[in-house]
Order: sequence, then C-alpha cells, then structure tokens
Amino acid sequence: MNVIICKNKQEVAKEAYKIVKDRINNCRAKVLGLPTGTTPEGLYAEMVKGYKKGEIDFSDVHTFNLDEYIGLQKDHPQSYRNFMDTRLFNHINIKKENIDFLDGLTDDIDRECERYEAAMEALGGIKLQIVGVGRDGHIGFNEPGTSLTSRTHMITLAQSTITDNANLFFGGDESQVPRWALSMGVGTVLDTQEVLMIAFGANKADAIKGMLEGPITTMNTSSALQLHPNVTVIIDEAAASKLEYHDYYKRIAPGNIEAMYAFLEKARAQAAKKAKAAAKPAPKKAAAKPAPKKATAKKAAKKK
Ligand code: GLP
Repeated sequence: MNVIICKNKQEVAKEAYKIVKDRINNCRAKVLGLPTGTTPEGLYAEMVKGYKKGEIDFSDVHTFNLDEYIGLQKDHPQSYRNFMDTRLFNHINIKKENIDFLDGLTDDIDRECERYEAAMEALGGIKLQIVGVGRDGHIGFNEPGTSLTSRTHMITLAQSTITDNANLFFGGDESQVPRWALSMGVGTVLDTQEVLMIAFGANKADAIKGMLEGPITTMNTSSALQLHPNVTVIIDEAAASKLEYHDYYKRIAPGNIEAMYAFLEKARAQAAKKAKAAAKPAPKKAAAKPAPKKATAKKAAKKK
C-alpha cells in the first residue's frame, strides 16, 4: 500500500483531491465509488472548488455510494443520499441519472443489493473507490465480523458506530440512528480497480494500525485492503501515530519514485561510462628499442 502521511486534515483533503482530479481527467476513473461521514467533507469541498475553477468535469462521471441507512427517505436530513446531495452532487455538473444509490426504503432488500452489484458491473466496475474508516475499522458499513468476501448486503450497525454517528450527525440522539443499513460488501470494495482511503484524527489511530500492520481479520474489515493491489492511504499524523513503520512510510512518500528514477539514471550513466572506457582499444605501445648488443669477447679483446 502506498501510504501518505500529512500534517493535518486540510492537507489530507488536498492530497486526496490531487488523486481524484488526476484519475477523472485522465479518464481512468469515470466510475467512482464514494463514502459519507465527516472524513470526506474536506475532499468534497476541494472537488466543488476544483469544478468551479474549471479543473475537473463530472459530466460523464458515474457514482455509486458505499452505503445507506435502512428506513430513511432520500431527503431525510441524515440520509446518506441527502449528505451527498448537499456536500457534492448539487454543486457539480454530474448528471442526476449517473448517480446510483442504495435504496434504504426498498421493499426487497435482496433484489436491491443484487441490482446494485449488477449496475456496477454493467459499467465495467468501479475505477476509483474512495473510503473512510470507522473507529472499529469498518469500511462502508462492514462492521467487525463481516465476511471479507461479502457483496452488497444488509448489516446491523455496531454500538460504537451508532454512538459515533449519533454524535456526529444526529445531535447526540442515539435513538434517531437506524440500527440497520445497506452496504457494499468487503468483496465489492476489493473488486474495484483502485482504492483511496482517507482518515484523520487520533480516534482512528487503532483502526489505521490494524488496517496497515495488523493481521487480515474480519474484526477490522479495512485490513482486507492489504489484499488489494492498488491502494493509497492518506492520513494525518494523529491517525498515523500508532504505526510501527511510520518512518518508513514517510521515507517512501511522494517524490520517492522520482528520487529512485534519478538515482537509477545516474547509476546507469556511470555504468555506461565505465563500459565505454573498458571497450576502448588499449593505446599502442612504442616499439621497444633493441637492447644494445653486448660486446663480443673478440671485439673486447680488439679494443684493448
Ligand atoms: C460511517 C460510514 C463509513 C465512514 C464512517 C466513518 O459508518 N458508513 O463509510 O467511513 O462512518 O465516519 P467519519 O468519517 O465521520 O469518521
């Protein structure tokens, strides 16, 4: 995994935006998977800013959101659909028909989950999946114990998630938080082409430690991302504070690849120079002067 450790959450949002902009503009991510929660709010603000500056165009982008509460209407202030409309969709030029969302009021949960999987597949799969992480390590709403091969499904929320989401979005009133949700499965996320995980804050440090350095386990479903071949994790120092390999991740941060290529180029130039020198024909040696002839015994006698 490619780990980028930033100073603070503002920097996390800016770094993440660079990746989203690059992938959309280079046509590599016209199908996006999106998260909700407080974590992506800064990124969505950057995306709206970028769109207004003309840096990024969403006219042919399709989106799928990770999850939705069961029982909330689309326009309920705390529905994830409403979250996305108010933070992102209403401010960019995405076509409404290109936004797909799990229906939290469906009368057939299994059919709705199958429909969602099929819709992703029909578009060739998600190219860039952005995810946040819950305090217990969940991605989407895949709480501890969820199968790491799960597809879109119904999930019962863990108490820590109900408490966190009550405090963040329901004015602290846990009774208002639905106990169930629909969520892409861990397997659904693993099938996407690229994953961008963002997180910040000390309350995410344990989840991030488990995700990057812990064993792969259903007790922290984000740890399954260790099996994905193309993941970038952008976190702040507080979320990175429990990482054993913190210094190593910092060393392989952005600029590392460029530094490696510069080093490789220099080494190749040196090797080529050495090979050229070795291949040059050796300079001709001056013909050796014949050794002065030793006076023969006869001549020596004559001289006397
Ligand atoms: C919810 C969402 C997750 C999100 C998590 C973290 O449970 N279903 O997708 O990652 O909250 O939320 P936050 O970003 O507010 O910490």
